[in-house]
Amino acid sequence: MATVSIKNAIKTYPGNVQALHGISIDIKDGELIVIVGPSGCGKSTMLRMVAGLETVTSGDIHINEEWVNKKEPADRDIAMVFQNYALYPHMSVYQNMAYGLKNRKIPKDQIEQRVRETAKILELENLLVRKPKELSGGQRQRVAMGRAIVREPKVFLFDEPLSNLDAKLRVQMRLEIKRLQERLGVTTIYVTHDQVEAMTLGHRLLLMNEGRVEQIGTPLEVYEKPQTLFVAGFIGSPSMNIIPAVLSSNGDLALLGDSLSLPLTHSENSANSDSQVTLGMRPEHLEACESEKASMFLQVEMLEKLGADTVVYGKLEQTELVLTVRLSGIHPVVSGDRLPLTIPSEHLHIFEIDSGKRLN
Ligand SMILES: Nc1ncnc2c1ncn2[C@@H]1O[C@H](COP(=O)(O)OP(=O)(O)OP(=O)(O)O)[C@@H](O)[C@H]1O
Ligand SMILES: [Mg+2]
Repeated sequence: MATVSIKNAIKTYPGNVQALHGISIDIKDGELIVIVGPSGCGKSTMLRMVAGLETVTSGDIHINEEWVNKKEPADRDIAMVFQNYALYPHMSVYQNMAYGLKNRKIPKDQIEQRVRETAKILELENLLVRKPKELSGGQRQRVAMGRAIVREPKVFLFDEPLSNLDAKLRVQMRLEIKRLQERLGVTTIYVTHDQVEAMTLGHRLLLMNEGRVEQIGTPLEVYEKPQTLFVAGFIGSPSMNIIPAVLSSNGDLALLGDSLSLPLTHSENSANSDSQVTLGMRPEHLEACESEKASMFLQVEMLEKLGADTVVYGKLEQTELVLTVRLSGIHPVVSGDRLPLTIPSEHLHIFEIDSGKRLN
């Protein structure tokens, strides 16, 4: 059992590549933290620093209150599962799982007990004699996890462990990892660039962009109150609609010429009146309504009828701004329609133009 504390971690690679600009987070015992962000934002660097595979340029890493910056990876009591799970091809599943324990001179009967227990949890009992090449991708992934679990580490580190699997298997393994982490209660840091994986797995998410923290919060906090424009665009599918707007002089309307007029919840709104802002509206929060009640009209161009939802694409009337709308069920709208839309004011997201910081 362990806590992990990262304080102002900075990483500069040789050649003056600034990968991390000061990352801080306190991870609770038993928590599953997902680090999520686009390619190259520094996720693996962060994880490898916790593992001890990468030096820390400055800042502090503590595992269970112990300062580990200078500690060897082998002495940190952590287990890491990578994207290419790198099983030993000439060894059986059993041998692959037992290998790390043998190296640590653990008695044979204890090794056997741990491997068999872990194999049972992961439903690998019938595969213990097979070689990796005789396994499916998902089974190999489970062996890689088994190898980490048998070591009974204080912390699990996962670096995109599912990205080599097909979509269906990925969903299945995602559930398995969640169940396993809950059952074992081991503090876990999980890296992914997949926002759906992040939302479904994490107790909390750390959203990273270009080596900086954009937001730390539960999946719901991040979805409902994205603190930056980057987070707003990154979390949610289809992505949030982002358009320019101006706040009315008394600050209770967001306007875009004659195309848009939306009431705001005044009390929460810390923006100056008459100021230019960026407005965010999630596709699933836009509602089709009667023309008289519309805050805007969509010139419908394209439709995706998915059964459970209808995704509508079009332009905000009198503008070139493209909007996506997700209506529930099978909606009778057709291409060429003028679709009246409204959105409840609690679902409006307002951001400062320059900084991209949330204003409401
Ligand atoms: N050994 C290295 N030497 C120099 N630069 C590096 C090194 N490793 C990573 N970088 C750079 O540091 C930045 C962060 O890389 P990192 O691998 O942490 O990103 P990532 O978020 O894991 O990306 P991905 O999702 O593609 O795996 C990138 O700009 C990368 O090019
Ligand atoms: Mg990476």
